[in-house]
Amino acid sequence: MRKFIGLGVVALSLAVAGSALASDGAAIFKSKCSPCHGAEGQGTAMAPAFKGNAFITGSKDGADIAATIKDGRAGAAKKYKNFAIAMPAQKALTDDDVKAVIGVLKELAAKK
Ligand code: HEC
Repeated sequence: MRKFIGLGVVALSLAVAGSALASDGAAIFKSKCSPCHGAEGQGTAMAPAFKGNAFITGSKDGADIAATIKDGRAGAAKKYKNFAIAMPAQKALTDDDVKAVIGVLKELAAKK
């Protein structure tokens, strides 16, 4: 019985955390971006690096970065022909999620 009460408390606090707290950019980056872009944004054989990336550092308001994240980049829009795959559109992310993860990209890009 105690076990069930404990589970209930965990479920409740997860629900509260999910609704009340701001989007966790680091957690989003880790689960949804790092598999292709690397844990430190260093890039992998699949996707470009964010470290020192001029597309990230040069973006003033982040609108072009947000569009790339939400819509992805495929086909003729692709910029890096050396990476065979496309940037998949991140449809599941909310606007707050996108904003939070752009904050992480900016931090990674600033690291040379
Ligand atoms: C399945 C692999 C994959 C995943 C997962 C992925 N990306 Fe990408 N991403 C790519 C590839 C490949 C490109 C390069 C597309 C091109 O050729 O223009 C790219 C490009 C980008 C660019 C443009 C970089 C530039 O220099 O123009 C941004 C910004 C970006 N990704 C952000 C993200 C974010 C944020 C996430 C997580 C929410 C993410 N990506 C998840 C593969 C991925």
